[in-house]
Amino acid sequence: MSTQHSGDKLWGGRFSEPTDAFVEAFTASVSFDQRLYRHDIQGSKAHARMLARVGVLTEEECDKIHDGLDAILADIERGDFAWSVELEDVHMNVEARLIERIGDVGKKLHTGRSRNDQVATDIRLYLREAIDGLMQEIRRLQVGLVDLAEREAETIMPGFTHLQTAQPVTFGHHMMAWFEMLERDHGRLADCRKRVNVLPLGAAALAGTPYPLDRHYTAELLGFDAVTDNSLDAVSDRDFAIEFCAAGALIMTHLSRFSEELILWASAQFGFVDLPDRFCTGSSIMPQKKNPDVPELVRGKTGRANGNLIALLTLMKGQPLAYNKDNQEDKEPLFDTVDTLAGSLRAFADMVPHIQVRPEVMRAAASRGFATATDLADYLVRRGMPFRDAHEVVGRAVRHGVETGKDLAEMSLDELRKFSKTIEQDVFEVLTLEGSVAARNVHGGTAPAQVRARIRAARAKLMPLKG
Ligand code: ARG
Repeated sequence: MSTQHSGDKLWGGRFSEPTDAFVEAFTASVSFDQRLYRHDIQGSKAHARMLARVGVLTEEECDKIHDGLDAILADIERGDFAWSVELEDVHMNVEARLIERIGDVGKKLHTGRSRNDQVATDIRLYLREAIDGLMQEIRRLQVGLVDLAEREAETIMPGFTHLQTAQPVTFGHHMMAWFEMLERDHGRLADCRKRVNVLPLGAAALAGTPYPLDRHYTAELLGFDAVTDNSLDAVSDRDFAIEFCAAGALIMTHLSRFSEELILWASAQFGFVDLPDRFCTGSSIMPQKKNPDVPELVRGKTGRANGNLIALLTLMKGQPLAYNKDNQEDKEPLFDTVDTLAGSLRAFADMVPHIQVRPEVMRAAASRGFATATDLADYLVRRGMPFRDAHEVVGRAVRHGVETGKDLAEMSLDELRKFSKTIEQDVFEVLTLEGSVAARNVHGGTAPAQVRARIRAARAKLMPLKG
């Protein structure tokens, strides 16, 4: 008779020799999935409650299990829980400890359940909570942007295409562009949450279970909107996590573009904004430096979020149904995306309200680079010139400006009339920066009146947050 078996493992019965020590460490996930302990216990308590309701456990057994799990939760939170690699993952660590604590009753908890539907449930509970927190952080950042947009609704800056001066815009309009991106990000998370919030428990290992489980009751206890409709699908797909990471990669992409602009704007060359000192760091050698580390790091961290998305897509693509151990690899990328988003959104939400704007610098920049050239062309069009001809006329005026070092508004009327006799004294109204932005009074345009309308609409959307 072999006395060798696989130690104290919960699945040791079938084995005739202990797991190789390296293999044990290699296959264990407890070092990172212990993070799911709260959700694991939450899921187990609901499962036990449901088992009691359908008569698989007695009420008394269920109460014992609940008390045991509560005590374990308290131990873990107190830092008084020895995680064991031999017990592989968070699920078996908690279950083994439960059995140790409450004895044989603890062995009944896993009735009608498998780690496969258990882990899928845990991740969904975890991710749902993470999404809720991230959506709130997006809202906090949006509030900061709307406040800043309102303060600077009339502030003029050069708008860019190709990073070349294009047309004047208002700083408020620029802030509201970021608001819109985040609004879609918020919507993507809300949408992803719907597909996360479905209960896999009851799928068991892959085929369902012979016990008369009331899955809808478990779902209700855990706040899930629905139960999964196919047990194979329930234990195997991680599309909800992939979807979340895709939404996360987009959020980071938006924050990265935002970062890039702040980094440029805070440079001596642009000088459009000042970032608060407490969000910047100095240089150990160059005393004058104030480096925009926070936006730089956020821009850099975007690489992780993109990598995590690709990791999960690749993890999934070759897997036959149903559960495969590959899926254990879903956690680190997922956690990393959650952490990256939480840190980056927090940094931005904290920083944005304190961005100092330099209106005179932006105004001076907008006054260079012929930002009102399109306005001059539109002026000529209003006086009957076909747009293409007007474009050509203004192009020649700009060339003259480049040669003489003058912007259009700095030329005399006579000088301008050399390019077209259609031009008259009132041209100077359209060549002003204020005239230029005010003229773009179309829905979604940069005119302060339009920006204020968008701000009002945004505030209405954000209202619940302020109440
Ligand atoms: N630690 C595992 C994971 O994260 C739990 C599920 C294990 N299931 C199994 N049949 N080995 O995926």
